[in-house]
Amino acid sequence: MKSKRILTGDRPTGPLHLGHYFGTLENRLRLQDKGYECFIIIADYQVLTDRLETGTIGKNILELTKDYLSIGLEPSKCTFFVQSKIPELAELTLIFSMLVSVARVSRNPTVKDEIRSMKIEDTFSLGMFSYPVSQAADILLFNPSLVPVGEDQLPHVELTREIARKFNALYGKVFRIPEPLLGRSPRLKGLDGQEKMSKSRNNAIFLSDKPNIVRAKILKAKTDMGREIRYDPINKPEISNLLNLFHLLTKKPIDQLENEYKGKGYEEFKQSLAEAIVSFLHPIQERKLCLSDDDAINVLKDGTNKASKEAAQMMKRVVKAMKTDYGF
Ligand code: TRP
Repeated sequence: MKSKRILTGDRPTGPLHLGHYFGTLENRLRLQDKGYECFIIIADYQVLTDRLETGTIGKNILELTKDYLSIGLEPSKCTFFVQSKIPELAELTLIFSMLVSVARVSRNPTVKDEIRSMKIEDTFSLGMFSYPVSQAADILLFNPSLVPVGEDQLPHVELTREIARKFNALYGKVFRIPEPLLGRSPRLKGLDGQEKMSKSRNNAIFLSDKPNIVRAKILKAKTDMGREIRYDPINKPEISNLLNLFHLLTKKPIDQLENEYKGKGYEEFKQSLAEAIVSFLHPIQERKLCLSDDDAINVLKDGTNKASKEAAQMMKRVVKAMKTDYGF
């Protein structure tokens, strides 16, 4: 087994945005280029945690795969696969669910937030409650050393580490204890000033947004009182968020940007920011135009084949360690 391996992934709920890019996608690109073997799970079952209609999942999987390819993730270095095509994940989830208490799973701030925002009181499903256990299986079945994620996923990685330690202590060392890895910007705020950029909050810039959409969104983005372009997250949280975004896109240090825009107003700053986003997205969108559904399907078939082989091998080790290979 290669020691430099990462596993991470996404729910196929819709198009990727800049929050994803700077939260985790950028890290995947960096690690793929540093020789890490990358496993990318498209977590279709996890979509069912908060919505049961399945009609758009297939299309979303293809779009997500094209987004991955268009930002520069390469099938020769990354194994892209679909969660529901790997039955060992369900098997391992069942085993892991015996290794954690209900009380422990209840103490997950991300799940609590998600449940709160669903506004369905205590009628959330068991699957919603326990998906971090299934996510622990997503991770550990592929035995990665690193899990590049956004900040909201840290509680899940912590639970994963606990489950791995518990399993290893009970049955012998099978799993590595994976480390989480945060991106340059663990949490990019939304254009409306909300804590997180997200599709459901309608405050995101998608990788697929055309120049005019980008310009309109940035023009409307929330700003603070005054007209000074200054990085001051306490007193000027919105301008600071936009400065941070500008910095992430151009890699220019924030104080250099402050200097460049000294004495200039929000409008001029926003226009330049919009153009920086447009040129950042342009090559990604050009590459995506060249990708067909069949390209995505082929990449997924290969990836799922490879992931299946890995899964079968790892599951054999699990069964052997647990002594459930009874011989009949
Ligand atoms: N929960 C992740 C998200 O919502 C998606 C995901 C599923 C994942 N399985 C994973 C992320 C395993 C990292 C590792 O974005």
